[in-house]
Amino acid sequence: MTKRLLRVLDGEAVWPPPVWLMRQAGRYLPEYRAIRAEAGDFIALCTNPPLAAEVTLQPLRRYGMDSAILFSDILILPWALGQGLEYRNGEGPVMPPIRDSAGLDRLNSARLRPAIAPIQETVRLVSAQVGDATLIGFAGAPFTVACYMIEGHGSKDFGHVREMAYGNPALFARLMDLVTENTITYLSAQIEAGAEAVMLFDSWAGVLSPRLFDAHCTQPTARIVAAIAELHPGVPFIGFPRLAGTKLASFATATGVQAVGMDTAVDPAIAAGAVPAHVALQGNLDPLALVAGGTAMAGEAAAILAAMRGRPFVFNLGHGVVPHTSPDHVGALVAQVRAA
Ligand code: CP3
Repeated sequence: MTKRLLRVLDGEAVWPPPVWLMRQAGRYLPEYRAIRAEAGDFIALCTNPPLAAEVTLQPLRRYGMDSAILFSDILILPWALGQGLEYRNGEGPVMPPIRDSAGLDRLNSARLRPAIAPIQETVRLVSAQVGDATLIGFAGAPFTVACYMIEGHGSKDFGHVREMAYGNPALFARLMDLVTENTITYLSAQIEAGAEAVMLFDSWAGVLSPRLFDAHCTQPTARIVAAIAELHPGVPFIGFPRLAGTKLASFATATGVQAVGMDTAVDPAIAAGAVPAHVALQGNLDPLALVAGGTAMAGEAAAILAAMRGRPFVFNLGHGVVPHTSPDHVGALVAQVRAA
């Protein structure tokens, strides 16, 4: 019996739909906070296979999710290439920004494989315990990873990044190529260790102009999807070009992904009409509706389910679970999806 999530990624309209949540492992869970305190800092947790495997499995034990997503972070890739990285409380990730070729030259692709060995070990440990759930590996899409590498921290509009993309396209292309090639290696390593599907998070794709979106979101994703299809035929891909707006359908067809994640702003009925029926959709409850719970959450979730019935669909959020979410609301949401 093929796993439910894999059936959907193969184009089947499984109902009730499989459900998992972006950032389903995290600070809203007391059992996560306990392990996080034991590990010390966040990178120490990501590179401690038994503890990272434990937090990956926590939401499955509590809610019976249809997927386990590897517990790691998209910025582990630049960290593994030698760019410094620190997670500061309340501030998020901070890294020394790359703004010139000297900064780029300091990165070393030879470091990648040894640095990600513990991440592969986490995948192996989870793979042995995942049961009927599907183990999803992931990476940041090149543009979103480049956003943090160039800006050096989070931002509302990633101004330095777009400035470099327009003003120094040769340097920007060199950085994007380096990230794209290493992302192929990184995802391959996860698949070798037991990841059954992979997801690319392009959280900041929405800051790009339409031409830059095609060049720096759609094209690198297509390149990664094609390379992985050659190295590991049959492993399905989920793309998540957040805030892609009118670009969602062309992204879905031009990249060759098996599923596309809808962010909170996407109208599921419109996406269902625009994205070909063989491409699964995933999403897209507002994480703040999950914080509110009750009838507000139930009404939003019911509308998404009604729009998605009859097509391949994976229930999820439109962005990650936020830390002040009540664990009980997550339980109520999963129960509602299971009863659809
Ligand atoms: O979804 C999961 O449960 C799997 C693990 C996962 C994390 N980050 C764990 C994490 C995944 C898939 C990510 C992806 C990620 N990381 C993205 C893309 C998705 C999105 O949210 O847009 C981005 C942009 C990042 C970069 C990142 N990592 C930021 C901006 C932050 C700080 C914000 C925050 O929530 O603290 C992180 C840290 C981070 N990544 C945490 C977790 C559980 C919190 C760390 C902690 O425990 O203190």
